[in-house]
Amino acid sequence: MTPSSQQIALQATGLTKDFRGFRAVDNVDLTVVAGGVHALVGPNGAGKTTLFNLLSGFLTPTAGTITVRGEDVTGLQPEQIAHKGVARSFQITSLFENLKPREHVELALQSRTSLGRRFWRSEKIMRQFRPRADELLAEVGLSHLAEKPAGELAYGQKRALEMALVLALDPAIMLLDEPTAGMGIEDVTRTIELVKRIAVGRTVVFVDHNMHVVGSLADRVTVLQQGKVLAEGSYEEVRRDPRVITAYLGEASHA
Ligand SMILES: Nc1ncnc2c1ncn2[C@@H]1O[C@H](COP(=O)(O)OP(=O)(O)OP(=O)(O)O)[C@@H](O)[C@H]1O
Ligand SMILES: [Mg+2]
Repeated sequence: MTPSSQQIALQATGLTKDFRGFRAVDNVDLTVVAGGVHALVGPNGAGKTTLFNLLSGFLTPTAGTITVRGEDVTGLQPEQIAHKGVARSFQITSLFENLKPREHVELALQSRTSLGRRFWRSEKIMRQFRPRADELLAEVGLSHLAEKPAGELAYGQKRALEMALVLALDPAIMLLDEPTAGMGIEDVTRTIELVKRIAVGRTVVFVDHNMHVVGSLADRVTVLQQGKVLAEGSYEEVRRDPRVITAYLGEASHA
């Protein structure tokens, strides 16, 4: 069944990105249905993060187009794409080492308001964001670390904080790059439940190497390999696909 244009939250057509002659994303067509939870998987170096960078405006495509709810956003700046309701988290942490988790979330909450562009932020102004910041920290399991410098957090805790920062923006379309990487089983389970909750009324696209996470969350899975779409379908369809099995076994044999 082909989704109609209102049902499509995000679409890439012929999307390509070259880095000095190396094609990291190669003619990718991707359709993300509104309200869906769509996983992007594939071996290391397949182009998943690069695709996220293109979709969120952090990189400009070499070729191809991107639309958000039918509107062409190709070539727009990250803030402009964010304005269309698309927000993403980072695989490599974008946190300030010396800033505490609570301060990070307060800044993210403030950035949505008209105060966002003001450089000077008084204690008093920031304090109004504290209750919501604390709710978000609780959602991602970081309440007990609210006052610890972000640089001292474990990798999985930084992923959780990245997630809180995306949630603070309350986007209609959320791109999460490896939200569970570096987490222990308990935190992975909590993150799965959190993504299920936040996915209600939103569109989520996520990258994850953990197939339990992908199988628990995704209603659609796109497999990338060497920048190209190798397969797409439900989790069950994709995991049985011989080409996908070969791509992963190929990767495992190099490990
Ligand atoms: N800025 C860049 N300049 C040059 N090459 C790049 C750049 N960014 C990514 N690449 C290359 O593009 C390819 C795809 O990288 P990308 O980070 O998108 O992969 P990925 O699927 O996210 O991998 P992983 O699972 O390891 O996160 C890799 O070969 C990478 O080295
Ligand atoms: Mg990546």
